[in-house]
Amino acid sequence: MSVNNLTQLDNFNYGIEKIFDKAQDFLPINGTDYVELYVGNAKQSAHYYKTAFGFQSLAYCGLETGNKEYCSYVLAQDKIRLVLTTPYNPDSEISHHIRMHGDGVKVIALWVEDAGKAFAETTSRGAEAIMEPTVFTDANGEVVKSAIKTYGDTIHVFVERKNYNGIFLPGFVKWESEYNPESTGLKFIDHMVGNVELGAMNQWSSFYENVMGFANLITFDDKDISTKYTALMSKVMTNGNGRIKFPINEPAAGIKKSQVEEYLDFYRGAGCQHIAVATDDIVFTVSEMRKRGVEFLYVPGTYYDTVGERVGEIAEDMKILKSLGIMVDRDEEGYLLQIFTKPVEDRPTLFFEIIQRKGAKSFGKGNFQALFESIEAEQEKRGTL
Ligand code: FE2
Repeated sequence: MSVNNLTQLDNFNYGIEKIFDKAQDFLPINGTDYVELYVGNAKQSAHYYKTAFGFQSLAYCGLETGNKEYCSYVLAQDKIRLVLTTPYNPDSEISHHIRMHGDGVKVIALWVEDAGKAFAETTSRGAEAIMEPTVFTDANGEVVKSAIKTYGDTIHVFVERKNYNGIFLPGFVKWESEYNPESTGLKFIDHMVGNVELGAMNQWSSFYENVMGFANLITFDDKDISTKYTALMSKVMTNGNGRIKFPINEPAAGIKKSQVEEYLDFYRGAGCQHIAVATDDIVFTVSEMRKRGVEFLYVPGTYYDTVGERVGEIAEDMKILKSLGIMVDRDEEGYLLQIFTKPVEDRPTLFFEIIQRKGAKSFGKGNFQALFESIEAEQEKRGTL
């Protein structure tokens, strides 16, 4: 990944110059470095993400490379790097994490120029330290990593890789595979959402504001996001250049159990709810993913009776969007197309969003109603509404 590759992401600066004083950005972030999931069987998960999502094999560590504690498979698709890790030892912290949470996101790694400074700036503002700045080296150079805690058992790792030209990180070897399914057109991570406990949204949005130097882009209250039965509240936090966006959700009081409460029950606490990945061609991406077995949330057919009126003229054929279950929303700056997978593990926890932005910089508020009704229908089936 080079700095040049990031220029297209700069289109997503969200007009945040208005809310940011760049000189005061004490935690400059180049982008998401990688996302690491702790999973029960990384070998099989890797096969799923390659086959169904179109990721490519990139790097590996495990017994064959001298790692006797865990194995990690690194998958890549354009700018996205996904790391899948499984422990060999039942007493390890990774095993404990999987026992508690099931498969889920452990690390949201952020690519920085100076991992020592990132650690100093955040811990001096109250971040809980997980790993002091540490240098990792191999024949390809050195990487400095440091880490702090965020919501639940999730952590942020700061990765400084300017003096490294290996395949991923020291300790990893290139993963050569004879099985290389085609990409589905996923490009980069648009945003990653955290679910936190009732009453904890402001605590965590303040954490991102005060400790990480982020700003609040938008707030949705329970009047924006509610159905007859369930509700949630959300604050979208963004870093100084807009490349990192973390909406934080908390459940709100409703007649029945909200999707966020269901997540918190099954994840046994706060954690990453969904990873939104961007594509330039959502019709192609979703057609491919459906063909390869990815399950998406069902969108009621009646949604398409009125969506045309709401969003006006769009370039895509609404009949095709309807057949694929892709939703559309418009804001002042353009429109966006989006769709949500069902949870990608047996616990109703982590899922993915596929998003294509055509000018719009918002998050699909106009689809909240249809979306939450669809999620409630799934909760009903699970007996968790
Ligand atoms: Fe999202």
